[in-house]
Amino acid sequence: MTAALFPGSFDPFHNGHLGLAETMSSLFDRVVVAALGNPQKKTGMFTMAERAEMIAESVAHLPNVEAVHASGLVVDVVKETATDCIVKGLRGIADFDNELQMAQMNEHLSGVQTLFLPTAPEHSYIASSLVRDISRLGGSVSDMVPSAVSSRLTGQA
Ligand code: PNS
Repeated sequence: MTAALFPGSFDPFHNGHLGLAETMSSLFDRVVVAALGNPQKKTGMFTMAERAEMIAESVAHLPNVEAVHASGLVVDVVKETATDCIVKGLRGIADFDNELQMAQMNEHLSGVQTLFLPTAPEHSYIASSLVRDISRLGGSVSDMVPSAVSSRLTGQA
């Protein structure tokens, strides 16, 4: 049985993330989507518990995918969740440098390997930071996020 950890800030989880979770669901026996605090991103729109709740609702159609929130090192979360590897999405070359460095550091720290999956081209322009900006300025993001996220962004939850 192979289990994958899909970590991220997920503030909020968007359709690019959901597409990746769906792909991982078909590739692995078990997938844990973990909302983690990113020390380089001080401000958050949603609490960690809210992020995990929205992820859980968004992946409810995928029986082998679960959502958690955690703090600390991602390699420790791999151990805590009994997963075997880290999986990250790549939207394009701009993501690659930082993701490669984190993957190499995490392998150095713990021996855990990171696998990269390409984001679907139709989602490659979506970023949580843009979703937050558009939403805060009154624009619609309903076609970029799962309904569980959209309803909270519009205050209908
Ligand atoms: O969605 P993001 O912001 O790209 O996610 C980044 C995240 C949360 C996965 C990354 O910051 C992370 O792994 N944080 C946990 C702390 C940690 O382990 N840092 C060392 C990684 S080399």
